[in-house]
Amino acid sequence: MSVLEKMTSADAIALEDKYGAHNYHPLPVVLSRGEGVYVWDVEGKKYYDFLSAYSAVNQGHCNPKIVGAMMNQAQTLTLTSRAFYNDQLGHYEEFITQYFGFDKVLPMNTGAEAVETAIKICRKWAYERKGIDEKQAKIVVCENNFHGRTTTIISFSNDENARKNFGPYTPGFIKIAYDDIAALEEVLKNDKDIAGFLVEPIQGEAGVYVPSEGYLAKTKELCEQHNVLFIADEVQTGIARTGKLLACHHEDVQPDILILGKALSGGAYPVSAVLANDEIMNVIKPGQHGSTFGGNPVAAAVAIAALEVIEEEKLSENAEKLGKLFREKMNEYIQTSNIVTLVRGKGLLNAIVINDTEDSSTAWDICIKLRDNGLLAKPTHGNIIRFAPPLVMNKEQLLECVTIITNTLKEFENQ
Ligand SMILES: Cc1ncc(COP(=O)(O)O)c(C=O)c1O
Repeated sequence: MSVLEKMTSADAIALEDKYGAHNYHPLPVVLSRGEGVYVWDVEGKKYYDFLSAYSAVNQGHCNPKIVGAMMNQAQTLTLTSRAFYNDQLGHYEEFITQYFGFDKVLPMNTGAEAVETAIKICRKWAYERKGIDEKQAKIVVCENNFHGRTTTIISFSNDENARKNFGPYTPGFIKIAYDDIAALEEVLKNDKDIAGFLVEPIQGEAGVYVPSEGYLAKTKELCEQHNVLFIADEVQTGIARTGKLLACHHEDVQPDILILGKALSGGAYPVSAVLANDEIMNVIKPGQHGSTFGGNPVAAAVAIAALEVIEEEKLSENAEKLGKLFREKMNEYIQTSNIVTLVRGKGLLNAIVINDTEDSSTAWDICIKLRDNGLLAKPTHGNIIRFAPPLVMNKEQLLECVTIITNTLKEFENQ
């Protein structure tokens, strides 16, 4: 097909199917444009985006300030590598460290790379500062975690689909139940070789599991007592998504190592970061870690703009307010529903649980109907549907979305 011919959704899907690896199972919708809370498919149909590229597009699609910063920098200087300095990176490093309250940042590109970076920093700190014997350091992680797709990260996943036949796996991780303070206490008490505790403040991929109140504060305190680094993976929960700048801030926790990605660019560009104070970050010396693209001038300019938008447009406050309204409206619906058993979440990171078995196709079927009705969302695990719209949504739009969602769910009641 000539590139000048108009492509249909079916054409685009067929092309991906034929020439792309089948490592995803997308909802059948082919998007060609986005603006704010909306996206349009190639046939021109408009949808509310209720996924935000897994919480990357918090600032809305094609946010003008972010796109402007990107265009500007892209026409000036795109990449130097870290073999040379560039005139954007230092400015960004000062900005982001002050923004989140850390001494230093290590810039990377994707979320998984940032998690890998945090693991390396933590291990090196364990040997050089804590005094753990070489190769003995362990990091505690949680059941049902999701931290990305690299070989080391899937080594401590318990999603069989993500792990099977990708071994041998990286050792050095201990898995404990999520939201279980006693489990962490037990493991810390009995093992002197623990270097870090890596945790998602809300487990997003697993199905938006919000831990009990006090979990983050208490686990941070335990880490301090045992000289263990509290490593927060806020790739999905961070940057205003849950109604605060960081989900950890709901419990006034400042992590020892903070991992960010996704919305750090507002979805415009792959930008991730690891933040820590000097005593931790200074274990990394030249040649020990890096990335050709990490800290490139475009990423630096984009990330500053993306973080400025969060403050200027008060997106944390908006997420907090609209999230409450969303759960209130969904709870009203659930009172009368046989098909939804639960809504949970914080800010605008929410999920509903469908009243069907984990291996049923009901959640998928509901997402297809939501698509037909003009709203895009995707099941997470099994029968759970995640709802995470861009944070630039207003109240009227949110209420319209609630109507679309509840009307769609009604079609599945008593089937
Ligand atoms: C908590 C968390 N960490 C890490 C990642 C990996 O990020 P990326 O897909 O950019 O590698 C994700 C992606 O969904 C995530 O939700």
